[in-house]
Parts: sequence; structure tokens; C-alpha cells
Amino acid sequence: MIANSRGMAGPLRVLVTGASSGIGAAIARNYARRGAQVALLARRREPLEEVAAACRADGGEASVLVCDVTQKAEVAAAVGALAEQWPRIDRAVLNAGVAWSDGARSFAECCTSDAQNAAAFDAGTAAEIMTTNYLGAVYFLEPVLAWMRQGSGGRIAFTGSMAADGLLERSGPYVASKAALRALVEGMRPDACALNIGLTLLEPGFVETGMTEGVRYRMPFLISAERAAEAFVRGIEDGKDRVRAPWQMSALVGVARLVPAPLRALGVRWLGRASDR
Ligand SMILES: NC(=O)c1ccc[n+]([C@@H]2O[C@H](COP(=O)([O-])OP(=O)(O)OC[C@H]3O[C@@H](n4cnc5c(N)ncnc54)[C@H](OP(=O)(O)O)[C@@H]3O)[C@@H](O)[C@H]2O)c1
Repeated sequence: MIANSRGMAGPLRVLVTGASSGIGAAIARNYARRGAQVALLARRREPLEEVAAACRADGGEASVLVCDVTQKAEVAAAVGALAEQWPRIDRAVLNAGVAWSDGARSFAECCTSDAQNAAAFDAGTAAEIMTTNYLGAVYFLEPVLAWMRQGSGGRIAFTGSMAADGLLERSGPYVASKAALRALVEGMRPDACALNIGLTLLEPGFVETGMTEGVRYRMPFLISAERAAEAFVRGIEDGKDRVRAPWQMSALVGVARLVPAPLRALGVRWLGRASDR
């Protein structure tokens, strides 16, 4: 069991949003294996219950809260309900996110539907993505910061994306939502730190989840959700400001940022071409 960082009684208490699948489910299970008590949040109850059962089998304690992160009142009610069960909160992993609007059923469909493409731009899709990925985290910040302040601090992690570096084709609104999240975290870090609340930005490269299922174009250094979760949980518990996984994709993005724009554009176009996957 990981002791909670402040030597208080009981297990580490961790809230995870977007915990019904993919990276969020893997992060919750990783914490459960370390003996933590996890609260799992998302919209779909059935997969949440399955993840909760797996967390208990992994040795942790788990509870489920159905919540749509785009609804501020639902978020406040979920955190309020949790505050009645838990004496304090140690970690919040704000991970819920979408790469497409609910109108498109998969990332692949979205990327070929042109809704995020300058050629057939759809403002509704852009608004939906921003509401889930950015406001969905912002709505948690208010009650979670207040709760952590009542105790003696804690750490909040946010799932951004290496896409925030702008190297993904036909995904402008998604890229913008993750860049906004990155700016929020970096802008708030000094004042949160003064309250003894650490902020960690998690930036995945390509991870095998429902979000990337069926994607036809190149996804270099694709890793499993479990591998991403291991790097992320370790980074959060080490008190890192930012964790990027896998490191190979991070290095590629770093190099791409240094090369002249026309060469970078060629690379982005190469990435966006269909692979034989
Ligand atoms: N996979 C990648 O390659 C990759 C790369 C970079 C960043 N990311 C980021 O990683 C995070 C997790 O994505 P994933 O890859 O694990 O995909 P995923 O398996 O599709 O998981 C997305 C999670 O977000 C939840 N969610 C979506 N909209 C929600 C809403 N309105 N309210 C509450 N929960 C909501 C989903 O649950 P419900 O549908 O049950 O609500 C699900 O649990 C996202 O922020 C994504 O942008 C992923």
C-alpha cells in the first residue's frame, strides 16, 4: 500500500475521471494495485462497475460515481457525494476526454468526416470537444481545490496530450482543447503550489484504447494503456510537473519542434497518411 503522502491514517484516496475505459481505467487499476481507495467517474455505469470489480480484485477499494463532466452541477454533486464518504482526497486524475463529437462514433470516423478539418469545419464538434476536454476538467477544479485546501493539500493530474504540440492533422479543435489544458495547468501551478497542491500534466503519445481503435493512419510508438498508466502513476507519485509517455514519441515531437516549419509539415502529412495497420 502506498502511504498517503502526509502520513495520515488510511489508504491514498484517488478520484479518477474517464475511468470506464482506456487510460483512466488503467490508472485506477494501477492505483488499486498499490492499495489505494479509488473513486471511478464516467457516464456509463456498467463498464465503471466492471473496472471497480477489477480494482477490488487487484487489492484496492473502489466506488463508482456516474457523472457527465460537461455538466457543472453533476460534477459538483459527484464531488459532494464523495466528500460524504471520504474524510479527505489525496489525488484527482482529471482524465475524461473525447477526440470526436458524440455524433461520430470513432476517432477514425471523425478524422475522415472532416468535422475537424478546415475543409468542412463544424463549430458544434469543436465546442463539444472543448467542453469535455477543457471545461470537464475546470468544473472539477473548483470543488477539488476547495476540498484539498480544507485538508493539507494533495495533487491533481490532468490528461492532456502530446497533440498539444500541433503535429496531428485534421484535429485542430482536439489539439486546441489539449493546448488549453496545458496552459491552464502551467498558469495555475505557482498559486496551487502555494496551497500545497501539486499539479501534474500527463501527456500521452499514441495509446491503444477505444479512442485510437480503427485509426488508419500512422501511430508511431503506440503503447498499451497499462504501460501509459504505469508511467503516469509513477510520475504523479514522484511529484512530477509533467509526464510524457512513451518517451520515444516525446523525443520525436521534441525534434519535430526544432526543424523548419516546411519540413515539419511534411512529417505531419506523412503521419496523417493511411498505414497498413
Ligand atoms: N488514446 C490516445 O492515444 C490518447 C492520446 C493522447 C491523449 N489521450 C487522452 O487520454 C484520455 C483518455 O482517453 P482514452 O484514450 O483512454 O480513451 P477512451 O477509452 O475513449 O476513454 C475516454 C474516457 O472518458 C470518458 N468520458 C468521455 N466523455 C465524458 C463525459 N462527458 N463525462 C464523463 N466521462 C466522459 C469516457 O467514459 P464514458 O463514455 O463512460 O463517459 C471514458 O472513460 C483523454 O483525455 C484523451 O484525450 C489519449
